[in-house]
Amino acid sequence: MHKTISFFNHKGGVSKTTTTFHLGWMLAEKGKRVVMIDADPQCNLTGLALGYGEHNDLDKFYKEHPTQNIHSGLAPAFESQPRLIEPIECIQISQREGLMLLPGHVNLSEYEITLGIAQELSGTIQALKNLPGAFNYFISKIAEKHKADYVIVDMNPSLGAINQNFLMVSDYFIIPTAPDYFNVMAIDSLTKILPKWAEWAKKAYSFEILKNADYPFPEPKLKFLGIIIQKFRPRKGKATEGFQSWIDQINDRVNKNLFPILQKHNLVLNDYNNDSKNSYCLTEIPDFNTLIATSQDNQTPVFALTGEMIGHVGTVLEQEKKKRDEFKKIFSDLTDKIISLTI
Ligand SMILES: Nc1ncnc2c1ncn2[C@@H]1O[C@H](COP(=O)(O)OP(=O)(O)O)[C@@H](O)[C@H]1O
Ligand SMILES: [Mg+2]
Repeated sequence: MHKTISFFNHKGGVSKTTTTFHLGWMLAEKGKRVVMIDADPQCNLTGLALGYGEHNDLDKFYKEHPTQNIHSGLAPAFESQPRLIEPIECIQISQREGLMLLPGHVNLSEYEITLGIAQELSGTIQALKNLPGAFNYFISKIAEKHKADYVIVDMNPSLGAINQNFLMVSDYFIIPTAPDYFNVMAIDSLTKILPKWAEWAKKAYSFEILKNADYPFPEPKLKFLGIIIQKFRPRKGKATEGFQSWIDQINDRVNKNLFPILQKHNLVLNDYNNDSKNSYCLTEIPDFNTLIATSQDNQTPVFALTGEMIGHVGTVLEQEKKKRDEFKKIFSDLTDKIISLTI
């Protein structure tokens, strides 16, 4: 049975996409079969994993693989086609055996409004009954087809219906954050929104109409795995002083506000112990600095860059390799932790 882990924060630029790619790769490196889902209409994960930077390149990809994307896969439900959703063939990431991608699509946002209405009116309108369970059905079929151990979902930066659905049908979620004021605010709004979504999912599961749909809405089982703090300043791209104060505030908000609310709504792991200050912070990831550009140029995570990809010689190369190996340890430990929490 596969486990679905969503990376969720409605705040953009907190490394959701980058972390999805790095974690997916490391899980595969450790022998797991992994499907990454690009659930952001901006398709950054698709661009990162397949190496398409320019709009035109992606256009070519869609022309050559017209049905291999999330929008096309969900079309039977959302465009009322007279056929069931089928698992599509994901794209195998060439340099990493066991790592696969379900590409995103800019038109995924077309489904946002319809899904929103279906979720609002869950259980009352027959014609919309197949939408709330469609994502879960699609994920399950894809996981089955690819014999996936993990499905990891890179979500879009919003509090929209698609995120609500993806999150509430996942097994686990991780909140990537960055140390600044807006991220503290984002934790506060998640503290308000997540209980509402959880209540909605519980209700949706209880509706007879949704139980009898072609794609029944599943019993909610979502659990919080923790937060990840990216120690870089988004946009400005450079570490600055004062990080620690924001990191402390984020941890404080999570420990004092978010976690107890999640606990109340049955969204935390039974064995999650709350005895250390940062117990819900899975890891802190430092600034990749120059390695991030090399990583993007090579469609390879920072920790898997070869000396050839890094491209320098002598002591500079040795220094960069040393940094790469530090990131390798961070992601390896993070991955082990996630594996042990999701058994
Ligand atoms: N640890 C890091 N160090 C430096 N830059 C990073 C790090 N993680 C992500 N980035 C960069 O920050 C930007 C935002 O990251 P991204 O993963 O796209 O965030 P999100 O998906 O949350 O919007 C990207 O340009 C990415 O390359
Ligand atoms: Mg992203």
